[in-house]
Amino acid sequence: MTVEEEYRARYQSGDILWDVGRADYNLIEVVTQKPIPGCKALDIGCGTGDNSIWLARNGFEVTGTDTSEMALAKAAEKASNAHVPCDFRRVDFLKNAVEGAPFGFVFDRGCFHSFVSEKDRRRLAHNVAAHLLDAGLWLTLVGNADEPRRGPGPPQRTAGQIVSAVEPYFEILSLQSSTFESNRPNPPRAWRCLMQKRQVI
Ligand SMILES: C[S@@+](CC[C@H](N)C(=O)[O-])C[C@H]1O[C@@H](n2cnc3c(N)ncnc32)[C@H](O)[C@@H]1O
Repeated sequence: MTVEEEYRARYQSGDILWDVGRADYNLIEVVTQKPIPGCKALDIGCGTGDNSIWLARNGFEVTGTDTSEMALAKAAEKASNAHVPCDFRRVDFLKNAVEGAPFGFVFDRGCFHSFVSEKDRRRLAHNVAAHLLDAGLWLTLVGNADEPRRGPGPPQRTAGQIVSAVEPYFEILSLQSSTFESNRPNPPRAWRCLMQKRQVI
């Protein structure tokens, strides 16, 4: 099964533990504490849109992309109910460009970590850089391989795997051990990695 097929099947069956119904606190902290001023933002693998909607409510002009039509339909419904403008599009980010580039800020929660091969993770990092303004920022939230796996949870990656994929294109501003926003009593551990596009790549 491809990554796309796997996610589609999970949205169809409702097996979507990551979909907590609100924006992730890591996004909120980074945007408000750095701070990252409002700009054109891209949410890759936006799922049902809670992070996109938070960004749109907080001064960003947001495009959200995903490969799952079901997730995108839900995202559009949530944005409409919340009366916030978000542009949701079906785009496979490994294969196709997203209209509206360049963006000032890219966010992904659980898209980068979905790819098992180094080649795909590097391609995703390359594509993020290609969609960003010079010195644009990318915040990724990634399952953390330092957590012993007990039961279901996000794909897990090591700090080294993140660095190896992103470093050719990005300067790493911070790479922190964190947890995902979660409805579970023990939220899964995450890496929170904020990067800036290199001037020359
Ligand atoms: C773990 S889910 C997270 C969804 C959302 N970011 C959230 O936090 O609720 C990962 C998402 O990435 C999407 N995805 C996977 N591969 C993708 C690709 N190549 N292009 C765009 N989206 C992709 C999946 O369909 C899924 O919605």
